[in-house]
Amino acid sequence: MSGKSVAVVLAAGMGTRMRSTLAKVLHPVLGRPMVCYPVEAALKAGVDRVAVVIGHQGEDVREVLSGTFPEADLVFAEQKQMLGTADAVRCALGATEGFERVVIMCGDTPALDDASLLRLIESHAQTNAALTLTSFDAPDPTGYGRIVRDLSGKAMRIVEHADASLEERNIKEVNAGLYLVQRDDLAFALGNIGNDNEQGEFYLTDMVHTLDGQGKTINAMKLPNPAIVAGINTRAQLSALEETIRRERNNRLMESGVSIESPDTVRIESDVTIGQDTRIGRGVQLRGKTQIGSGCLIEAGAHLTDCLVGNNVHVKPYVVAQDAIIGSDAAVGPFAHLRPGTVLGDKAKVGNFVETKKATLGKGSKASHLTYLGDCEIGDDVNIGAGTITCNYDGFDKHKTVLDDGVFVGSDTQFVAPVHVGKNATVGAGTTVTGNVPDGALVLSRTEQRVIEGYYDKRRKPREEAKRKK
Ligand code: UD1
Ligand code: CA
Repeated sequence: MSGKSVAVVLAAGMGTRMRSTLAKVLHPVLGRPMVCYPVEAALKAGVDRVAVVIGHQGEDVREVLSGTFPEADLVFAEQKQMLGTADAVRCALGATEGFERVVIMCGDTPALDDASLLRLIESHAQTNAALTLTSFDAPDPTGYGRIVRDLSGKAMRIVEHADASLEERNIKEVNAGLYLVQRDDLAFALGNIGNDNEQGEFYLTDMVHTLDGQGKTINAMKLPNPAIVAGINTRAQLSALEETIRRERNNRLMESGVSIESPDTVRIESDVTIGQDTRIGRGVQLRGKTQIGSGCLIEAGAHLTDCLVGNNVHVKPYVVAQDAIIGSDAAVGPFAHLRPGTVLGDKAKVGNFVETKKATLGKGSKASHLTYLGDCEIGDDVNIGAGTITCNYDGFDKHKTVLDDGVFVGSDTQFVAPVHVGKNATVGAGTTVTGNVPDGALVLSRTEQRVIEGYYDKRRKPREEAKRKK
């Protein structure tokens, strides 16, 4: 099909039935705002521009979409008052100038996919129609606009539920709210739609009757799978649809070479990417913009949010990580907590009950047990003994601990920051490091060991015997 196309996405409504202070189209579905889905589908289907009609929290909608699709030709049109769907499209009419065709869709249909839009575009081209509307048979059509066909079966108008006669209400074929229309015909129709109806709204659906009256070809395409246009009105519908999208996403990942154990228990959000031959365990949650390389093993119950994970990384059970970077061949967990600003080098190892925050661990460095590492820069091949704590907070400010390459830290050590420990230095077990340590030195702050011989016989034994006699 020649000529350019533009999509108009209706996203001005508040969505009262969500009972939320957040506009409906901004509610997240599998980790990304609802309105992103139809916009992405339109872009993937090859439309040249997307014009979004905004109203409630319009600035936030604009920010989200511009941030998500920085390369796309996105135009925003404000609708100040909700006067109806035709009025909404009219607000965006200026942005459709110069385009040949207009796809019209709703911002609250996250299941809409590009394949369905391509079928719509194809059907429109084949029938040479001025307008292609989409419909489906609803077991309970209450609330939907009904498709009224003439005796020959040609769609001639849509009647809204509120305006329908009893006879019309028996029609099961309903309007899906997804259209493709020639731009000039749309402009003509919008100029002729009034609001003389039950709801006093400007109905976009009236363009069918208007264009039919002009002798234009109306094509009604029945959707084989109406679930793709299911609009979200309530939180229960959101949750149900999110489940469907989640399952499909897991299936697609498995098709692309990712193993998922018990996919019903696994949540992988829409913006997450995973490389080939990575295995995902039971109950894993991968959220936000997390990116995982190939050949990784992410074991049961791990929750990763906005993390960057290299190749062949082993994330053991019940690791919680956010805004962390994990280098290739590294191992983390079980039960580790990587907080924002954690950067683990290649082959680094972080073991159980280790918490990190704004912490860099160089290549091959290890913190295997029971440790807190905050505000620190740790070089390559550093060994951190069990029970090491960076004392980074003095009650007022945060201070930094720097450990150069090759430092060996014995168990039960505290670094009272700011401190800097030089290359290849050794920190003896039980030491409280309060000042800088030069390269290659040993630092110790423990008290000398004292041994008192015969203590048991002299002190404890007599008391134990006395106790037994009582
Ligand atoms: C609409 C159709 C109906 C169809 C149904 C499918 C009309 C008149 N009716 O009804 O035939 O069966 O969709 O779901 O079009 N919006 C705006 N500005 C407005 C009004 C609406 O942006 O002034 C947005 C809403 O936020 C929503 C979408 O347009 O996302 C649909 O509007 P809504 O009022 O919900 O239409 P329905 O009554 O569902
Ligand atoms: Ca101690």
